[in-house]
Amino acid sequence: MDLSDAYLKKAQEELKAYKNINFVRAKAEDLPFKEASFDVVTSVFLFHEVPEEVRKDILIEAKRILKPGGLFLFMDSLQLQDTPDLDWALLDFPKNFHEPFYKNYVSNPIEDQFTELGFDVLEVKKVFLSKVIIARIK
Ligand SMILES: C[S@@+](CC[C@H](N)C(=O)[O-])C[C@H]1O[C@@H](n2cnc3c(N)ncnc32)[C@H](O)[C@@H]1O
Repeated sequence: MDLSDAYLKKAQEELKAYKNINFVRAKAEDLPFKEASFDVVTSVFLFHEVPEEVRKDILIEAKRILKPGGLFLFMDSLQLQDTPDLDWALLDFPKNFHEPFYKNYVSNPIEDQFTELGFDVLEVKKVFLSKVIIARIK
């Protein structure tokens, strides 16, 4: 799912070899899916795009649609102090691109939000300028 028709169209083109995929246009913070209906939720480079309160709402919504023990697989930008030698790159990025919420995102460890909202953070992996988190709903 994505908010943008253009991104969904691109995803449909890229994934046309696979038949059993539904492409859904929706807001991640207001999903048209039932409670406890998914084993896994993934989010790839979404969180840095939205304000802090929406990041929280997205995690609450993921929690709602996950089955007990379900997994949240997260990937987004590295955050400040994750790899201090790369902090300069994170601070430079929003100067060159229109990324209104990026500075706030990199300044607030997302692992803390996962924990505050009832996820167990199982793994955090830094991959150059990105980070991957695997979290499980309690
Ligand atoms: C940096 S792009 C990443 C797209 C894709 N996940 C990828 O990795 O190629 C960010 C995406 O977030 C989507 N987006 C922004 N705000 C959203 C929201 N509130 N709910 C759902 N999608 C949103 C945008 O439409 C855009 O496709």
